[in-house]
Amino acid sequence: MTVAYLNGEFQQLEDIRISPLDRGFLFADGVYEVIPVYSGRLFRADAHLQRLERSLAAIRIEDSLGRDGWHALVEELVERNGGGYQALYLQVTRGAAPRDHAFPAGVSPTVFAMTRTIDSDPHSPALHAVIRPDIRWSRCDIKSVALLGNVLLRQEAQDAGAAEAIMIRDGVLTEGTATNVFVVGGDGLRTPPKSAHILGGITRDLLIELCHDADIDCREEPITEAELRGAEEIWVTSSTKEVVPVVRLDGDPVGAGVPGPQWQRVHGLFQDFKRRLVRGDVD
Ligand code: PDD
Repeated sequence: MTVAYLNGEFQQLEDIRISPLDRGFLFADGVYEVIPVYSGRLFRADAHLQRLERSLAAIRIEDSLGRDGWHALVEELVERNGGGYQALYLQVTRGAAPRDHAFPAGVSPTVFAMTRTIDSDPHSPALHAVIRPDIRWSRCDIKSVALLGNVLLRQEAQDAGAAEAIMIRDGVLTEGTATNVFVVGGDGLRTPPKSAHILGGITRDLLIELCHDADIDCREEPITEAELRGAEEIWVTSSTKEVVPVVRLDGDPVGAGVPGPQWQRVHGLFQDFKRRLVRGDVD
């Protein structure tokens, strides 16, 4: 049984009902967040909540809870679900109103949160990826629930026997359908710079920070499709995947076709960060 939250009330997930007039359902008019919880401790909660505030502001939905309200909500939800290892999902839509594209007046946003259990040690297997054109809109920096482009491309990856599609827009790498991308090549370790064409991942930011602290040069620079195809190592990062090596791209081996030495190193740094988080030394 999972306890979830809707508009001020904690309820069993299966008892929650949302109106068919909710603009999240009719227009995908809403935003979301995913926050991992390790041994009851939230991973980078402030960074995630800050991104949620930014997404809400970008689509002009009022943040009725505020930072303290969000903290209280997520902490209570984690506790009601027994702590441990969870992935928290938060979603805010513009609310329910008669269908009309323009914003409705006087409507309260729908605030929903749920959680699911995750493995305490998500031994991330290496994955295969395909390259696809980035067919999404031009505000991928907003964590919008409008994910149809991501969904279609992810399915194309799955149909091709891969687990992720890495997207190219205007000749350069943007991101994966639900991940950011890091590339190791002749030019060192790089990840695309933040822009309106990618989601600024919290895992991505932490990895850059961990590399910096370990004196590993990691640059935020554009990566061409040719550089991606010629990479020695490729990794994808997200809150639910952590840091996963891509060992085949469009069917061809990446480097030696096995997780590379640079990945081993940053994966170790990431796992070490998680241990420190669980001990309460960092957040
Ligand atoms: N997705 N880019 C996209 C398009 C994403 O959807 C995600 C995460 C990321 C990585 O962001 P972060 O490191 O903050 O999780 C990058 C979440 C996990 C999801 O949709 O389930």
